[in-house]
Amino acid sequence: MVEDRGSARTGRSSRRRFLEGTVAALAGSSVLAEGEPRSDAGTDWSRVRKQFLLKPGAIYLNCASIGVPPAPVVDALSRNRRSMAVDPVGAKVRLSRRIIEQVRPSLAEFLGVDPREVAFTQNASQGLQSIADGIPLKRGDEVLTTSHEHPAGIRPWRRRAQRDGIVVHEIPMPSPLPSKEEILERIGARFTPRTRALFFCQVTRGGLLNPVKELCALARERGVLSAVDGAQAVGMMPVDLRDLGCDFFAASLHKWVLAPAGTGVLHVRRDVQNQFSPGLALEEPADARRFQMPGTFGYSVRAGLGDAIAFLRNIGLERIGARNRRLSDYLKEKLASLPSVRLISSRSPGLSSPGITIFEVPGHGGMELRAGLQERDIGVDDHVRDGHDAVRIATHFFNTRAEIDRTLSVLQDLIRA
Ligand SMILES: Cc1ncc(COP(=O)(O)O)c(C=O)c1O
Repeated sequence: MVEDRGSARTGRSSRRRFLEGTVAALAGSSVLAEGEPRSDAGTDWSRVRKQFLLKPGAIYLNCASIGVPPAPVVDALSRNRRSMAVDPVGAKVRLSRRIIEQVRPSLAEFLGVDPREVAFTQNASQGLQSIADGIPLKRGDEVLTTSHEHPAGIRPWRRRAQRDGIVVHEIPMPSPLPSKEEILERIGARFTPRTRALFFCQVTRGGLLNPVKELCALARERGVLSAVDGAQAVGMMPVDLRDLGCDFFAASLHKWVLAPAGTGVLHVRRDVQNQFSPGLALEEPADARRFQMPGTFGYSVRAGLGDAIAFLRNIGLERIGARNRRLSDYLKEKLASLPSVRLISSRSPGLSSPGITIFEVPGHGGMELRAGLQERDIGVDDHVRDGHDAVRIATHFFNTRAEIDRTLSVLQDLIRA
């Protein structure tokens, strides 16, 4: 068993055993106390927080850039790495088997799709590159996208335009997004008989939330393929690809899923797999695994992805999404009350993601404020794009209101200095 291109066995019972094993492994410092209500409000978030290894006093508000794996994931990763060093032959077989029989099915279930529709990637960038490379297009064919795409998403399309003479329309979109109706109108108006694909983010780098289901339906009604960049969505809230109805989806799992760095997923819907042909693809097997990068990969890391998914599912994605929404609502409310701050993110839950908030401070650049906060051990990012010179704060479920208060107090000191 060299790597995960062999068996297509789903292994439901072994998956259950794996999840149970991980849940049991968590029990010592358990995420949920026995008998604890399973509602979002009933979760003991301070116990959840204890699973993170961040240095005392440091505040991390940047999972939109790189997630911070909790202790069970870090421990599993070190165990995997150690076993690869102690017994390379045996460990490679064992980890490969775990990836095939447990990690792939749990990743597919996590995203609401069939295991034969997911390919492991290194990151979202690799999946997005494959999508732009592999959709069959000829000179003059048109692709619709928006002005808010991440460079990892838009560059492969621009390159394809240069290489193959396709036309890529980057439809200007305001930030914050105006209304669902206006997004659908702006994009809907640009379809022509030459349109072959529609590509956009579920959640943009700056936290705008697109109406994915409606946009994919718009494409489908016109016989157009839909491709979604989910790098900023998976792990932040529940994501059900079957329900969203997209043909292609790429995401990084080392952001909001908190998996080890170097984990991503490419989803290719079964019905479109035969027409999809990225440069990397092999001729077999007859499912999405043939879109995976061939060759040796990080067995320890990919196996560790299973532990990250189990950690999130043990808490529950609904509760994570609700907790994230509450934290970002709190942050937005506080930011809106500061006279020197211009909150950019919409306060409407339909237009703004539950985890990413951006704001500007006139007279202070986003990069300057990011650096100032970083000096005080507060990790955020800047968002100098989409017409903004902003700071980006990513609140994930392990963050607290106290951390938000402290961040805003330091921010005010920086502004006054
Ligand atoms: C919207 C979006 N797409 C794609 C990416 C690329 O992710 P990665 O660097 O993990 O490939 C990012 C990274 O921040 C992103 O924000």
